[in-house]
Amino acid sequence: MDTQVAELLERARQAQANAHAPYSHFRVGAALVTASGKYYSGANVENASYGLTVCAERSAIFQMVGAGEREIAALLVVGDCDDFLPPCGACRQVIAEFAAPATPVFMCRRDGAYQRTTVAELMPHVFRLLK
Ligand code: THU
Repeated sequence: MDTQVAELLERARQAQANAHAPYSHFRVGAALVTASGKYYSGANVENASYGLTVCAERSAIFQMVGAGEREIAALLVVGDCDDFLPPCGACRQVIAEFAAPATPVFMCRRDGAYQRTTVAELMPHVFRLLK
């Protein structure tokens, strides 16, 4: 496995262990590396008011933004599932805000196998504020 993917997977799994998922019992971890080489990770954080749930990808991205970074170089997501876990639609829009179309996104299975895609493949018609 590519060393950067291995590093992202390790960090995503560490975050996944901290997921707050008492309602779905579906624990997700995400990790990203910025253009400047810094790593950020996050887990899903559910709420008794279900709609307030924040996905792992957005948790990681909000960590990045809070630390003053803006440019995702690669992002990985892993869940407790046998299939490659794709980011949800809301997360795709948020990823696209901070990543170039060619930025790689790695969708992992529980066993660590992954599929590589790109932001453009995940979100071909991203919303931009038009005037
Ligand atoms: N979830 C994520 O963390 N990322 C995704 O891309 C899809 C869904 C979380 C949200 C919720 O806590 C649980 O998975 C079940 O939907």
